[in-house]
Amino acid sequence: MYILGIETSCDETAASIIKADPKTGRILVLSNVISSQIEIHKKYGGVVPEVAAREHVLNILPVIDEALSVANLKSAKIDVIAITKGPGLITSLTTGIETVRTLSFAWNKPIIEINHVEGHIFSNFINPETPVNFPALVLTVSGGHTNLVLMDKSYKIKIIGETLDDAAGEAYDKGAKMMNLGYPGGPIISKYANDFKKSFPKNIDASSDLSLPRPMLNSKDSNFSFSGLKTALLYQLKKDSGWKKRVPEYCFAYQQAIIDILISKTIKAAKRLEVKTVMLSGGVSANQELRESLGLAIKKDLTGVNYLVPAKEYTTDNAAMIAAAAVFKLKNKKFTDFDKLRVDPSLQLK
Ligand code: KG4
Ligand code: ZN
Repeated sequence: MYILGIETSCDETAASIIKADPKTGRILVLSNVISSQIEIHKKYGGVVPEVAAREHVLNILPVIDEALSVANLKSAKIDVIAITKGPGLITSLTTGIETVRTLSFAWNKPIIEINHVEGHIFSNFINPETPVNFPALVLTVSGGHTNLVLMDKSYKIKIIGETLDDAAGEAYDKGAKMMNLGYPGGPIISKYANDFKKSFPKNIDASSDLSLPRPMLNSKDSNFSFSGLKTALLYQLKKDSGWKKRVPEYCFAYQQAIIDILISKTIKAAKRLEVKTVMLSGGVSANQELRESLGLAIKKDLTGVNYLVPAKEYTTDNAAMIAAAAVFKLKNKKFTDFDKLRVDPSLQLK
């Protein structure tokens, strides 16, 4: 079957066509079109909701047209439309939702509502390199979310842990802002951190005397907290009049603290829950250091556990992941009528 996915929850207008077999879960991505507004929001140091909403309105139809044309598919062939219902910016979500209401009516197609975080989780089911054995633990790390969830063999999820304050991506973005490095912070901090690491190929651990805290690293639960780390960075920068000359070193230490927390909590939860697969997802999972370090930690500490990460194009916001999530919801055939479709900016995972 053919699924059209649409995603407009933040600052990416995205549409994708996938061909999927709901029985086997096999997914072929025929198109994955993303119109990113990063260049526009960069000059404000973050996403401006009104600007994002206007850009979505301008971009949504051309992006859907392009997704159909790249997939070489006529709209009549689409079996179902998958749309992000929330969570996200209400003004951004509304463009996707209103467009899907109209298309569903005009084309007479059923709608499946998708939770954005669930989209990130199911990005791992697009061409997985190893089988997903259950139970599985998924770490989702993005600009708005940091969650550990447990998934059973019927794809039901249960939240095991979440951030009590900032999300991991938010920690990157705020850290970059403090050092005037630009937006979004993740790719910039990770580039500086990489440069620093490359300049100390032998013994990176002995290369810096900067020490940043790892909040809640040893707490018994699987929750996260990043705001103390952000504040610690702020105080270190204030104390150090020469910090501008040490930006790569600061980025390295800051990223290392974030990654240590994420990996330690994930490994502990995986052991406790005796999972058979660990998956990583969300915008921060584009981070090469995190992808590799988590893989190594799993190899070392969790024998026989499979590890999955989505291909990089499915890590930051995209619509292929929204369409992919729909494949696994189709079993229950929970369709929404176009006149009942509404945004929910605070939609919870369940
Ligand atoms: O999933 P996403 O596109 O949007 C949300 O759902 O929030 O994630 C965006 C977040 C931003 O905070 C960005 O700084 C972070 O992902 N990010 C990265 C990298 N690329 C994007 N963080 C660390 N390393 C990266 N390479
Ligand atoms: Zn996202």
